[in-house]
Amino acid sequence: MKDQASNSGTGINIYLRLLTYVRPYWVAFLIGIIGFIIYAATQTGFAALMEYLVDAIGEKKEDAYIYGPLALMAIAFFRGLGTFTGNYFTAYVARNVVHQLRIVMFERLLLVPYQYFHDMASGHILSKISYNVEQVTTAATDSLKIAVREGATVIGLLIYLLYLNWQLTLIFAAVSPVIALVVVVASKRFRRLGHRIQDSMGEVTHVASENVQAVQVVRVFGGSKTEKQRFFEASLSNKKQSLKMAATEALSTPIVQMIVSGALALLIFFALHPVMNTGMSAGEFIAFITAAGLIAKPLRSLTEVNGAIQRGIAAAQSIFELIDEPIEDNKGKLEASGVSGKIEIKNLNFSYIADKPVIQAMNLAVQPGQTVALVGKSGSGKSTLANLLPRFYEPQSGEILLDGHSIRDYELSSLRDQIALVTQNVVLFAGTIRDNIAYGAMQEHTEEEILAAAEAAHVMEFVSRLPDGLDTEIGEKGTKLSGGQRQRIAIARAILKNAPVLILDEATSALDTESERHIQSAMENVMQGRTTLVIAHRLSTIESADQIVVMDQGSIVEQGRHAELLQKNGAYSALYNMQFTEVENEAGQTKEQSEVPTEKTAGESAK
Ligand SMILES: Nc1ncnc2c1ncn2[C@@H]1O[C@H](COP(=O)(O)OP(=O)(O)O)[C@@H](O)[C@H]1O
Ligand SMILES: [Mg+2]
Repeated sequence: MKDQASNSGTGINIYLRLLTYVRPYWVAFLIGIIGFIIYAATQTGFAALMEYLVDAIGEKKEDAYIYGPLALMAIAFFRGLGTFTGNYFTAYVARNVVHQLRIVMFERLLLVPYQYFHDMASGHILSKISYNVEQVTTAATDSLKIAVREGATVIGLLIYLLYLNWQLTLIFAAVSPVIALVVVVASKRFRRLGHRIQDSMGEVTHVASENVQAVQVVRVFGGSKTEKQRFFEASLSNKKQSLKMAATEALSTPIVQMIVSGALALLIFFALHPVMNTGMSAGEFIAFITAAGLIAKPLRSLTEVNGAIQRGIAAAQSIFELIDEPIEDNKGKLEASGVSGKIEIKNLNFSYIADKPVIQAMNLAVQPGQTVALVGKSGSGKSTLANLLPRFYEPQSGEILLDGHSIRDYELSSLRDQIALVTQNVVLFAGTIRDNIAYGAMQEHTEEEILAAAEAAHVMEFVSRLPDGLDTEIGEKGTKLSGGQRQRIAIARAILKNAPVLILDEATSALDTESERHIQSAMENVMQGRTTLVIAHRLSTIESADQIVVMDQGSIVEQGRHAELLQKNGAYSALYNMQFTEVENEAGQTKEQSEVPTEKTAGESAK
């Protein structure tokens, strides 16, 4: 869909699309515009007042001392009224548009395929939502506000000028093509700089967020200097581009002012030249110069609007790119509720990048209620396989069947409802421990169910020591808890979900042997009656599995039960022996200790 975004890349199309977000607030927008028209009228009114006052002095008008001041006060009042109405109502529209765009962007983030988050750096995504969207207001409303206010002022003053002396006005108007040229040249530059500013802003957010997340690594591995440099460069680039933008803006203003002043000078030359007889009264002449002078400021503002519009268009483009991202494919209609959990994988092939297969010609059948252990070196494709089941990725060929139907035929959320998942990296949300266990669609669960799940996952073991128990607030990302404690919360969440298919991706890797043994029994209970796909390092979790699948470079190299595979003396046996020595080393024991090397004896001797 990237193509589409660049196809719609013409400024006008993007701008028109942006205006569709303004449309729902057209009443407020109209009120704002009326406010600015009132304001603009007061400008012309002021020039007219000058004419009246100068002529009053010349012709000695009797009542001018009353009407003059009154008119001035009235002009000031309407000017204030117009300013307030215009500014407030356009701000009202702008804030609504930003709010709306943010919501649409966030909703799209909840729907885009998982891969999107690998392709886009999180800092850049965050920057779109926080920074770029703010830029849009300048295009959507601020610029319109200026365009209307200053545009109406210019038109009002021009009509007045034409009325006073059309010949002189035409001389004055002759400079407008020159102004237009300045505007066109500046536009291109504004938009290009706008894009660069956004990119650099994304980079600033990106580097900062990486560093917030990786404080320990940065400090222990002496990364402070390089990180400082990286951030410095990101921020410097932002500063440079912003300054270039400011320079262009600051330069185009005096250039336009010079052009206008030149025209004004020419005007005065013609008006005062002895040969020329304009036939104007002193009042008319003063009013003419005042009005022509008054035009300079709005004209200048109109050229500045251009910068804002181009910046906003650049921002809108990046926002629409996100909004136009294709969403996860969800064409299936089948309701998955009540499945027994039978899984068949047929000739499955998957790769993230073309020609680099991660899952190759895989075939596997899992009966309902069975536990399948996936083992293999890291990078062999275990997590990838686990991610294919809830359809986080789509295989290139082959298929996965759940209860005899391709998982593509199920409605996506109903498919995911059948799966409980504990991922490698446990992410907890800000809130209480209870909120994190009964997360999302599980908020309806009863207190007993939540407690039972917490108990089974040995969450209560540490929670009961906390003063607020399950209601303890955990910090952002659960940083106030240890890795093992976070994992237990994730396991409790999976237990509570009570889904027919359970996927545990190294769910116990952060647990110590003691807690793991405790949880092991709980897990065995959880695994009862549901299909479980367990990816584990510790072989204790694996020994009791109904099937062990040994993977290597995306293929199944061995398959069977623990005892069979050991006898084969192949890949599993090699892995197992390696693991055994590890466990032994942990326990500080020698190999001679046990004749039959089983995890159990090793575990016991470790006690
Ligand atoms: N999002 C991704 N994009 C591209 N390649 C990936 C992605 N995730 C994993 N890989 C690659 O796929 C292979 C298998 O990874 P993974 O399934 O995580 O292995 P395991 O869980 O067995 O350690 C690895 O070579 C890894 O580099
Ligand atoms: Mg993995």
